[in-house]
Amino acid sequence: MAKVGASLPDIELQEGAPDKSVKITDLFKGKKGILFGVPGAFTPGCHKTHLKGYVTDYDKLTKAGAEVMVCVAVNDAFVMEAWGDVSGAKGKVHMLADSHGNLARALGVELDMEKMLGTKRCKRFSAVIDNNVIKSFNVEQDGTGLTCSLSNEIVSQLQKA
Ligand code: BEZ
Repeated sequence: MAKVGASLPDIELQEGAPDKSVKITDLFKGKKGILFGVPGAFTPGCHKTHLKGYVTDYDKLTKAGAEVMVCVAVNDAFVMEAWGDVSGAKGKVHMLADSHGNLARALGVELDMEKMLGTKRCKRFSAVIDNNVIKSFNVEQDGTGLTCSLSNEIVSQLQKA
């Protein structure tokens, strides 16, 4: 698993459509912010609690120092875009598709959900990133829980970073 102090892996994800590539390291270049990962777009905990928290707490997180916020899941870019739209994330949280699980693998947070959801997914996590360096890394122990990776838990980490 990626360690605090390590650099973000230089991985291309998709935003808005499968042919629109975004380098995660371009988003955090010279900026402090939050990267969080979820097991799936629209799954109950991800939708009603996890993403919702980051959207609702946007002002609080911005005041605490977040200049950029990014949500990733092993889903396609159309699904991530639709999820962001119905969740009020536009202009607040970048909704990035890790379609092939490359980022989840590189960070060591791959989650085997083949039986339930058909594919390998991403463990639920949050991280403070400063200029592409991982400053804190909160990974749910069981991969899907809703504890250490929630928006209210990261405010003090942002302030310290
Ligand atoms: C969720 O509630 O977010 C969830 C449910 C099943 C699998 C993964 C996530």
